[in-house]
Amino acid sequence: MIVGIDIGGSTTDAVLLTDGEIVVVTIETGDPFAAAAGALGKLLSTVGGRLGDIESVAVSGGGARCLEDHLFDVPVVKVPEIEAIGVGGSTLAATSSALVVSLGTGTALVSVQDHVIEHVGGTGVGGGTLLGLARHLLGVTRLDTLEEMAAVGDLTRIDLTVGDIAGGPVGIVPATATASNFGKVRADPRPEDKALALVNLVAEVTFTLSITAARARHHKDIVLTGKLTRVRSLRERLEALRPHRRENVIIPPYAEYATAIGAARAASSHRPR
Ligand SMILES: Nc1ncnc2c1ncn2[C@@H]1O[C@H](COP(=O)(O)OP(=O)(O)O)[C@@H](O)[C@H]1O
Ligand SMILES: [Mg+2]
Repeated sequence: MIVGIDIGGSTTDAVLLTDGEIVVVTIETGDPFAAAAGALGKLLSTVGGRLGDIESVAVSGGGARCLEDHLFDVPVVKVPEIEAIGVGGSTLAATSSALVVSLGTGTALVSVQDHVIEHVGGTGVGGGTLLGLARHLLGVTRLDTLEEMAAVGDLTRIDLTVGDIAGGPVGIVPATATASNFGKVRADPRPEDKALALVNLVAEVTFTLSITAARARHHKDIVLTGKLTRVRSLRERLEALRPHRRENVIIPPYAEYATAIGAARAASSHRPR
């Protein structure tokens, strides 16, 4: 058995790949070693396995560098995060060519072209921004509270649209497109409107960057991964942006565990036979 562990900035995910089945556990990242050890223990107790059943532990994510070459006597294989994202996203979406976007604490864009995996770029706007601004702007700490607020928010009270400025569409841009996020400075939005505008800001920045990068790299498929894909209101904003583009935007099953799954798959394909 090969276990994949992604020690991220917010959460640590561990996955076990067995024949056709994926078992996952998640814990919050504190100390990277404790997070990896805790995730491995939780995974084993979930499947009723023993440490001796595990051939190797493939680790990736920002915290991976803090691990030694063994974790409780099991060999540790370090998989570069970009490779893990690329392998994970493309295998989950069953494609050999795609732009894989990791929507995590921050956002990373990875091009997969057959077996060539390249880091295209990214932005610091991501899940951490959503949580950080929710706290600073609204005093809200919990994602579910933010989601409840966003569900009844109204963007017309806070975002400036192209139609607000130009009175109609401009060139290829429809009147309803955002001209300026949070740009309606003469209105007094409610906290719920701010919550939705925040979710929308993160969705629009990451989506438009993804579309631009996909076009630059001639990718038709964009695969979205990372835990931010799990935030319902954000997913809804992404869905709303999707129909106007010629690219296919895919959120595959297990998208939130793509990096851990990619680490395990990359390590198993490198393994000497
Ligand atoms: N249950 C959850 N716990 C923590 N963060 C979550 C959860 N669901 C969604 N998120 C969002 O996902 C982001 C972390 O995504 P993740 O893919 O785990 O990134 P990383 O690998 O950088 O830790 C958080 O910043 C938060 O906005
Ligand atoms: Mg992660």
